[in-house]
Amino acid sequence: MSKKIIVTGGLGFIGSHTVVELIHAGFEPIVVDNLCNSEKFILERIEKIVNRKVTFYEVDCCNKVDFSEVLLKEGAVNGIIHFAAFKSVNESVTAPLKYYKNNLNSLIIMLECMTEFKIPNIVFSSSCTVYGQPDILPVTEATPFGEIKTAYGNTKRVCEEIIKDYYNSGAEIKAVSLRYFNPIGAHPSGLLGELPKGVPNNLMPFITQTAKGLRRQLNVFGSDYNTVDGTCIRDFIHVVDLAKAHVKAIDYLNQQMENKFYDFFNVGTGHGTTVLEMIQAFEKVNHLKLNYQLMPRRDGDIEKIYADTTKVNTILGWTSMLSTEDACKDAWNWEQKL
Ligand code: NAD
Ligand code: WQD
Repeated sequence: MSKKIIVTGGLGFIGSHTVVELIHAGFEPIVVDNLCNSEKFILERIEKIVNRKVTFYEVDCCNKVDFSEVLLKEGAVNGIIHFAAFKSVNESVTAPLKYYKNNLNSLIIMLECMTEFKIPNIVFSSSCTVYGQPDILPVTEATPFGEIKTAYGNTKRVCEEIIKDYYNSGAEIKAVSLRYFNPIGAHPSGLLGELPKGVPNNLMPFITQTAKGLRRQLNVFGSDYNTVDGTCIRDFIHVVDLAKAHVKAIDYLNQQMENKFYDFFNVGTGHGTTVLEMIQAFEKVNHLKLNYQLMPRRDGDIEKIYADTTKVNTILGWTSMLSTEDACKDAWNWEQKL
């Protein structure tokens, strides 16, 4: 069996951590990234952590000719982990076609190439955003999907449907969609982490940039939600734990004896944390004070969501090991070294 795994978007936040974990597990990742939201120096950082060279192609996954050339060159490949996508929720509202074009096209090309090049396995980066605001918490994989208000969220839901439809058509693919909750943290070495362009939308990079003095004040969006302290609840998962779930998913796909398979899993900690609890944890483990202010609600935010992780725990044999405190420490270490 080939140990080669194509990692699209492998220089991005989650992809780079996954490349490291794949190598630790004995796989040979082949990174394909067009650098539209990442930097080439991340490749050297990965190589420093794993102490070996990593194969990299600067290729757009929406360009089938170029992507096919990678596959022709690499020969037998065991699977694809498909991270490559645009991910800014806000931008997707103002530029929806850009999002549909990249996120849907790249997946379709992956699926076509799996058939044409006889690649058995794919792991797809989905998101808890597919659930919208669930009525009952924690959310299980059987929870009905609620309304999605953003083009980004819709791309994730439609991509899952595309995989299911292709599988149902009789295509010989084995696929897993992983529905990530809120990934945070960084590699403990401080060499890898999140690289937001411009003003961050997400909570953790805004916290670390405020702590560093790059932002004057952290705005806490909403303090009148129906939660213990009035702020929103999320299931924050350490990116290293999340990376390891991909290795488990590839292992699981390789265990499937049928040449057709599809399933999907929540990947979170199973615990809800409020925004204020996250701020307090960050202040405590890093011995500093954040300048934050309670502000009105942010448009489009859901009040609370966290995962039921029974399925991923029992079937993939994966459980999150790292704490919110670990993530706060690692994210701050990364920000300071940037
Ligand atoms: P990221 O932007 O850091 O990484 C994505 C990588 O894909 C980048 O390196 C970018 O350059 C590359 N890329 C984008 N389009 C490409 C294309 N057409 N061809 C080649 N490379 C391309 O994002 P991330 O946070 O690491 O997210 C990875 C995946 O996980 C995405 O699909 C995202 O939607 C999904 N996801 C992320 C989160 C999150 O909060 N970070 C949550 C749920 C799901
Ligand atoms: C978390 C909480 C904010 C910034 C987004 C996407 C979702 C998924 C993960 C990809 C919310 C609050 C934030 C700030 C704040 N991505 N906040 N001040 O909105 O849960 O999810 O990323 O699939 O699809 O929508 O994450 O980090 O933006 O916000 O108070 O400056 O922090 O209001 O309650 P979110 P987030």
